[in-house]
Amino acid sequence: MSAVLQQPDIRICPMQLRDVEAVLEIEHAMYDYPWTEGIFKDCLRVGYCCWLLLEDEEIVAYSVLSAAAGESHLLNLCVRKESQRRGYGRQLMEHMLKLAKRHDANVCLLEVRPSNIAAIDLYEKMDFVEVGMRPAYYPAKGGHEDALILARELTL
Ligand SMILES: CC(C)(COP(=O)(O)OP(=O)(O)OC[C@H]1O[C@@H](n2cnc3c(N)ncnc32)[C@H](O)[C@@H]1OP(=O)(O)O)[C@@H](O)C(=O)NCCC(=O)NCCS
Repeated sequence: MSAVLQQPDIRICPMQLRDVEAVLEIEHAMYDYPWTEGIFKDCLRVGYCCWLLLEDEEIVAYSVLSAAAGESHLLNLCVRKESQRRGYGRQLMEHMLKLAKRHDANVCLLEVRPSNIAAIDLYEKMDFVEVGMRPAYYPAKGGHEDALILARELTL
């Protein structure tokens, strides 16, 4: 008799204040220069779009987007290490872009480290294009790293 593999239950839902602790745990594991608890709480307080992706009711990914005056800015997108390469990053990103459109944004902008091959690959697959560069934008070991600015039009 062969074993039946259960598909995990995937749910995308808004982040609440009570989720910040679990989100911070992933943030600290995934980034050398993580956001602080205060940053996440401020994002929730000012009404940025803060969303989670849950796998079997466990937080495995999150994203934060601001949208105003016809523009949106993807501020964070993160999938915990054990859950990467399962399409969650793409799925959550697609959701964030829908939210941006719902907020009447015509464009989505984001910054990414040129060394972040995984993220750049994902963004390029999702039709983001390079539109500029911010010199010495990110802290890095022994100095700073530039940021690539990517953009995607949100027509349709
Ligand atoms: C970038 C990130 C969000 C991708 O999440 P993910 O769930 O693993 O991505 P997906 O499974 O949806 O993959 C979508 C595509 O992204 C690209 N990609 C993802 N991980 C990659 C890797 N390690 N190397 C190369 N390409 C990668 C691939 O093109 C992939 O498509 P494929 O699986 O058909 O090849 C994830 O690696 C992450 O959270 N990194 C740490 C936080 C971070 O750097 N965030 C971005 C800040 S700008």
